[in-house]
Amino acid sequence: MCGIVAYIGTEKALPILIKGLRRLEYRGYDSAGVAILNKGSLERTRAVGRIDALASALAEKDMAGTMGIAHTRWATHGGVAEENAHPHVDCSGDIAIVHNGIIENYRELKQQLSAGHTFKSQTDTEVLAHLIEANYQGNLREAVQKALQNVRGTYGLVVMHKKEPDRIIAARLGSPLVVGVGEGEYYVASDASPMLAYTQQVIFLDDGELAEITRDDLKIVNLKDEKIIKQTEHIDWNEAEAEKQGFPHFMLKEIFDQPTVIKDAMRGRLIAPDGTAHLGGLSMTSEQMASVKRIILIACGTASYACLAGKYAFERLAGIPTEVAVASEFRYSDPIIDRQTLVFGVSQSGETADTIAALREAKRKGAYVRGIVNVVGSTIARETDGGTYIHAGPELAVASTKAYTNMVTVLLMYALQFGRSRRLTVATGERLVKALLEIPEKMQLVLKQSDVIKQLAEKYKAYSDFLYLGRGINFPVALEGSHKLKEISYIHSEAYPAGEMKHGVNALLSPEFPVVAILTSNALYDKMRSNIEEIRARRAPLIIVATEGDAAARELSDDVVSVPPTMELLEPLINTIPLQLFAYHVATILGRDVDRPRNLAKSVTVE
Ligand code: M6R
Repeated sequence: MCGIVAYIGTEKALPILIKGLRRLEYRGYDSAGVAILNKGSLERTRAVGRIDALASALAEKDMAGTMGIAHTRWATHGGVAEENAHPHVDCSGDIAIVHNGIIENYRELKQQLSAGHTFKSQTDTEVLAHLIEANYQGNLREAVQKALQNVRGTYGLVVMHKKEPDRIIAARLGSPLVVGVGEGEYYVASDASPMLAYTQQVIFLDDGELAEITRDDLKIVNLKDEKIIKQTEHIDWNEAEAEKQGFPHFMLKEIFDQPTVIKDAMRGRLIAPDGTAHLGGLSMTSEQMASVKRIILIACGTASYACLAGKYAFERLAGIPTEVAVASEFRYSDPIIDRQTLVFGVSQSGETADTIAALREAKRKGAYVRGIVNVVGSTIARETDGGTYIHAGPELAVASTKAYTNMVTVLLMYALQFGRSRRLTVATGERLVKALLEIPEKMQLVLKQSDVIKQLAEKYKAYSDFLYLGRGINFPVALEGSHKLKEISYIHSEAYPAGEMKHGVNALLSPEFPVVAILTSNALYDKMRSNIEEIRARRAPLIIVATEGDAAARELSDDVVSVPPTMELLEPLINTIPLQLFAYHVATILGRDVDRPRNLAKSVTVE
C-alpha cells in the first residue's frame, strides 16, 4: 500500500522518481507527488489520479535538482484529495516526508502539536512532518530519531530538509524499504523494482533501522543511534523482466509467463530418479521433519487459494493433517500451535501485513515457521527461519496469476518432499515428478486458446452475476477463477463446492446466472457431472472446463474450454489458466483498468 521512491546523486532526480513511481503504481494509485530540492528551494508537486496526472502537472516545470522524494498513494487516513497526497511538509515547508504505513497514535500527537502547528491535511503522515519539525535542532537524523520514538504504528518513510541539501533520511518499522547502492548515488524505494534500471546492489532495511544517506555514504543506525552493519545484496531480477514486452497489459504478459516461470520454480528442486523434491530452504533435519504432526498454511486472497490446493497435496502425499488459515482471522484467533506444527506463510509480495502478523504469532507460540514468497528480501523472506522463493519474477498486475501457479508448484514440491520422507512410494513420486515436468508444455496448450476464450468473454460480458463450481482439487480452482473475475471486471461472482448447491445456492440458478464448472477427468468426475446435470435442468448458462476429448461435457454445456489431462493434484496448474484468461478478456472488453483495478493495491501492507 503506497509506494515510495527517493533519489540522491548527481543526475536529475525528477525523471528517476517519475519512472520509479510508475514501477510502484501497483502499490496504490489514487494520487501521487514529488518534492525536489531545486536551486536551493524545496519544490513540491502533487496530483490526484495516476502518475500520468503528476507527470502532466510537472511537464512545464524546470527541475534540475539531484535529490528528491516521491510517493504514490493508496488512501487510508483522509480521502483522495491533493491536500492528502504525499509528500507532506511541516509549517515552514522546509521538511518534506513520504510515508507508507499507519501512525496509530496520530490523533494524540496531533493534539499535542496543535498549539504551535497548522495542519493542512487529514492524514496521519502530516503529523510526522510536524513532529520532526518540533524535534529539529539543526540535525535531521536526530530529529527523525527523536520523533519516531514517540510514534506508535508502522512506517516506511523518507524525509528531506531544505537546509540539509546533502542528505536524505529513511526509516522502517513494518513497511518495506530497500536502499539501492550506485556510484555516487543512492536510491530508496518500497521494493527494488524502481532501481533495477540503475543498480542491482541493494540493502534491505529491517524494522527499527534508520538510514542516513548522502551522495557518497550510507550510515545505518537504530533510533538510539547505535550503528548497524548491513550486507549489500545482489538482486537477480532485471529491468526487462519488469516490462510488458509487447503485451497490452502486465496481467496478460504474466499469464503468458507461466510456462516459463514454472520451470524456474522447479529448476534444481526435483530429483527425478528418487521421485522426490528437495527444497533446501526448508532447513529442517530429518528428525525435525519426522516430528511434524500438523501443517498450517497461512495466506490471504489468491495465495490462500493456492494453499487450499497445497492442502490436498500435503494430506494425500504425506498424510499430514493440513489446514489453510486466512491470515487476518488466524492472527486474532488465539491459535493452538505447538512445536510439532509447521507453519508456512505464503505470499507473493512477502509484505502482506496480516500474513506477517500471523507468522509472528505462530513463531511466538513455538511453531516451525517457513516462508513461500516471490519478492526476494521481503519481510516474510527475512523473518522466517527458512523457506523457498517461488521464482515467478516481478508480478506487477494487481491480479495475481503466475505467482499463484508457482505457489501451487512449490507447495506440491514440499508435499512431495515430506511424502517421500514418510509413506509415499518412489513409483508414485516418479509419476508426480514426470507430470510436473510436463506442465509447462500443457500450459502452452491452454494459452493457445486465448482467442477462443476471448470470444466466450464477448458472449458472457453482459451478465451481472457468475457462479464458479468445482469439487475436490477443483474447488480451489473455482475460488480463484471467481476471485479473478470479480477483482478485475467488477462483476459479482461466487464460488462453491458443487456438492453444496442443493443446500441453498440452487435457489439462485436461472437463465440469468451463468455457471462456470470445472469438470476434468478425476476421481470426482461422475459426482461433478451429476451436479452439472442438475444445473442444466435449471437452465443456467453453462461454461465447462473439461478434459480434451470429453464428448459428454460438450453435450451438457453451452460452451466448453478443453484442457490437457494431468495428475489430479496438479490440475490447479492447468485448470486455473482458462479462468485467468476469461476474467482478463471480460475485463478488457468492459474497458476496466485491468492492471490496476479500483480500490485495490498489489501489496496490502496495512491491516
Ligand atoms: O502478496 P500476497 O500474495 O501476500 O497478496 C495476497 C493477496 O492480497 C493477493 O493475492 C490478492 O488477493 C490479489 N489481488 C489476487 O489477485
